[in-house]
Amino acid sequence: MDKKVIAVAGATGAQGGGLVSAILSDPSGGFAVRALTRDVNSDKAKELAKRGAEVVAASVDDVESVKKAFRGAHAAYCVTFFWDHFSPDREKAQAHNMAVAAKDAGLKHVVWSTFEDTRLSVPLSDSRMPTLQGKYKVPHFDAKAEANPYFTELGLPTTFLLTSFYWDNLIHFGMGPKKGPDGKLAFVLPMGGKKLPGIAASDIGACAYGVFKRGSDFIGKTVGVAGEHLTGAQMAAALSKALGTEVVYSAVSPAVYRSFGFPGADDLGNMFQYKADFESLYCGHRDLGVSRSLNPKLQTFAQWLEVNKDRIPLG
Ligand SMILES: NC(=O)c1ccc[n+]([C@@H]2O[C@H](COP(=O)([O-])OP(=O)(O)OC[C@H]3O[C@@H](n4cnc5c(N)ncnc54)[C@H](OP(=O)(O)O)[C@@H]3O)[C@@H](O)[C@H]2O)c1
Repeated sequence: MDKKVIAVAGATGAQGGGLVSAILSDPSGGFAVRALTRDVNSDKAKELAKRGAEVVAASVDDVESVKKAFRGAHAAYCVTFFWDHFSPDREKAQAHNMAVAAKDAGLKHVVWSTFEDTRLSVPLSDSRMPTLQGKYKVPHFDAKAEANPYFTELGLPTTFLLTSFYWDNLIHFGMGPKKGPDGKLAFVLPMGGKKLPGIAASDIGACAYGVFKRGSDFIGKTVGVAGEHLTGAQMAAALSKALGTEVVYSAVSPAVYRSFGFPGADDLGNMFQYKADFESLYCGHRDLGVSRSLNPKLQTFAQWLEVNKDRIPLG
């Protein structure tokens, strides 16, 4: 029987890479993978081809290249790359290109990796957090939410996937424990005692694979995924256990976090404040049981740490 092709944006990255692995490790699942990359000759792209993926050139900034890449596929995983450019307009344009290409190709299922529109809870007039780039509270959330209608208005059979904080940020995004003036390692999170839904980045793609496998069950629906909902104190305790050295929780205020000054600190400060202030809404959108039903191998933070603890830079 011919396998149904899932075209995957960001295939060499975190979310898409997880989906590619999930498809390739289930050869009898009825799906084949087409990996989109801007550079088919990169080491990562060559590695995907070696593992059995069909690798095609496409940039989500170039609609014609995405149309070509989606043609003949059954489904697509659509993700945008905010942190490459910090531009909500470019992110929306990338999403629009994928929606238009999905329509052109007549895809039977699209999973769009999106987020909540934080302005539904914190209108621009709400002064608890600054308005950013003129019309956003959390630009990388709000822009994705603004792109949702691109998919619905074209009548695409879409699943809206709400993702969670990658625990991998502790490795790649400078969010690992840092040595404080007292010499102790501190895990900084501006969320007080509130819970942060987190996930191993690769498990997002594995959950998305579960969505594709369930066919029409999730079409037209929004589904959120997370591995665990943990407080900063619980994350620090798990880090202490895994690293074998004490890690304390440093619950700075969102305002202090915004003032850290690294690129995107204001966006992330607002994001964590939103997650803390609307804890039950935000956690409620990311049901752990549903996530596990989509991906039975879903990792807990402790399991993720066991595999990745040596990769976390301790500054
Ligand atoms: N960090 C977090 O905690 C977190 C949590 C949830 C959601 N997110 C969201 O995740 C999104 C990024 O996804 P990710 O983390 O999976 O990305 P990633 O790991 O940074 O990977 C991005 C991959 O996408 C490809 N890419 C970049 N620009 C492209 C373009 N113009 N056209 C085609 N491919 C392009 C690159 O592959 P090639 O070089 O091979 O083309 C790269 O390998 C962001 O929008 C962010 O808001 C992040």
